[in-house]
Amino acid sequence: MTLQHTQKERSAPRLRLGVNIDHVATIRNARGGNHPDPVRAAQIVAAAGGDGLTVHLREDRRHIRDDDLARVIEATGLPLNLEMAATDEMLEIALRFRPHAACIVPERREERTTEGGLDAAGQHNRLAPIVSRLVDAGVRVSLFIAPDPVQIEAAMRLGAPVVELHTGEYAHAEDDQVAIELRRITDMAALAVKNGIEPHAGHGLTYENVSPIAAIPQLAELNIGHYLIGESIFVGLDASVRRMRDLMDDAR
Ligand code: PXP
Repeated sequence: MTLQHTQKERSAPRLRLGVNIDHVATIRNARGGNHPDPVRAAQIVAAAGGDGLTVHLREDRRHIRDDDLARVIEATGLPLNLEMAATDEMLEIALRFRPHAACIVPERREERTTEGGLDAAGQHNRLAPIVSRLVDAGVRVSLFIAPDPVQIEAAMRLGAPVVELHTGEYAHAEDDQVAIELRRITDMAALAVKNGIEPHAGHGLTYENVSPIAAIPQLAELNIGHYLIGESIFVGLDASVRRMRDLMDDAR
């Protein structure tokens, strides 16, 4: 191990990798049976060095279903991050299962994936009771927001301990826009920490674009799904998680 590597390790703590296993369930549901089982994916993620599991229980249950939640929570010792819409139904489920963390996301039935950040500023009154009930229940609440100071300020007002910065604009940017989007995420990670909020990031991250994000020293966690599950078709889930883990570690 080189001195430079040791110094890097000292300057930024280990970045956690949360693996979103929704798309294992997407493939399972395509045939209506039990294979491939997200529980098996959870166990492989744990063995490959993932730090957490993420699932999004959508209103239409298009991938993860209610009965997967308990099974995934029990499958490994890894913390579960439940992505959920700000609805009474999802709040009731989160309070029943008490995952380690809950990430509140915007959800529209017709979207293919979570396409934008939560309007934490505009939806304060809707979000406030949900955030406080989850926090009171000991669930670590995060808000999936655009890297925008207005949204960080709104997260502070809501008392959310964590924000997940949406990296979709960065992931889809081209040419000069990449640096602009990266700067926004870098600045908002710093602003969050300055205000006592733990910043995470995720959406659209791949082997090719993860390193500059992983190098942002304030970020504590990345949540990555689609690319890792897609890549696992070619190299296996163990190998895809390990490679992402290595890229993240090398960036620090
Ligand atoms: N974080 C949140 C809050 C998400 O909604 C998603 C997508 O489900 C991700 C991270 C992961 O995004 P991707 O699947 O593009 O890696």
